[in-house]
Amino acid sequence: MNISVTIEQVEQKYQQYYKRINDALGNCLTKKSPESLYAPARYILAGKGKRIRPFLTLLACEAVCGSSSNALNTALAIEILHNFTLVHDDIMDQAELRHGRPTIHKKWDTTAAILSGDMMMAFAYECALQTKTSRHDELVHILNEANITICEGQAIDMELEQRQDATIADYLDMIAKKTGRLISASLETGGIVGDADPEQLERLVTFGNKIGRAFQVQDDYLDIMAMDGKSGKVPGGDVINGKKTYLLLRSLDLTTGAERQLLQSVIDNNGISPDRVPEIREIYEQCGVLGETRHLINTDTEEALSAIDSLPYEEGREYLKGFALKLMKRDF
Ligand code: IPE
Ligand code: IPE
Ligand code: MG
Ligand code: MG
Ligand code: MG
Repeated sequence: MNISVTIEQVEQKYQQYYKRINDALGNCLTKKSPESLYAPARYILAGKGKRIRPFLTLLACEAVCGSSSNALNTALAIEILHNFTLVHDDIMDQAELRHGRPTIHKKWDTTAAILSGDMMMAFAYECALQTKTSRHDELVHILNEANITICEGQAIDMELEQRQDATIADYLDMIAKKTGRLISASLETGGIVGDADPEQLERLVTFGNKIGRAFQVQDDYLDIMAMDGKSGKVPGGDVINGKKTYLLLRSLDLTTGAERQLLQSVIDNNGISPDRVPEIREIYEQCGVLGETRHLINTDTEEALSAIDSLPYEEGREYLKGFALKLMKRDF
């Protein structure tokens, strides 16, 4: 796939917009009292989030010839909504670390995490409504629909934890909902602010769904394979919790004997003790699932890039493609 911007240009734009997004985020939740409500929200927003979704919102707006400054409030809405889902996700996953720091329910308590999450969700809509556009109704509709879809995905994720018969198709449906839809909504809302027509919006959504799926498969991969602490989460958290990931489900098909038995025990017992995570990692390394995972990620990414080939503003479009490629390397 040919792309007319260089990795360095993509990197530079990402750095520049990252700062823009972080500066704006730092200024938007200024209310102090009650402290137990607002401090946790400021804490999660000040974490080392990659700001992928708001960056996509700004780029999508540009790719349909809009001005990204008009899309900044929408980008903030998306990022705040995303962080709200992380706060509640960490309660559901009983996660202790996020961005290398204690999660909100650990640092404060579950009540604080539920409430500040609720507030952030409402706050996100307020940000979206401050966007300069005549298409607020569409913005709110997309945010609602994405929000409901994430809840569906998260509910399916929880149901799959308990189910012994989960398939790869179940898994792919679940991740399209819990992760894919917000990523595609980031692009769709950016397109709306740039006054995109329905066909352009559809292309942006396809791009988002494809990279969203690749991104979550990658997240599952890094959950157990990134041992350098770069993920900022507890390594192997997914197998510890018995999550049905692509890696786990597919490697069940690729193994036999004692290896398969050990993997099956993760499913049967809804998890495994943390000291056995290295054995699971070893099986993944041996059974060929890592190559298949990379293949799935690469195919989705290629399909994503071709979906947006006809967007009108070449520079914006090429940055979107370049960022998708950078994202799949996750070298940041
Ligand atoms: C985390 O998303 C949740 C998933 C969908 C995997 P990110 O990896 O984009 O989280 P931050 O915002 O960079 O922390
Ligand atoms: C996150 O999935 C999806 C949402 C937050 C909606 P994960 O549970 O895999 O995300 P991480 O790994 O905790 O970031
Ligand atoms: Mg989680
Ligand atoms: Mg989760
Ligand atoms: Mg994960």
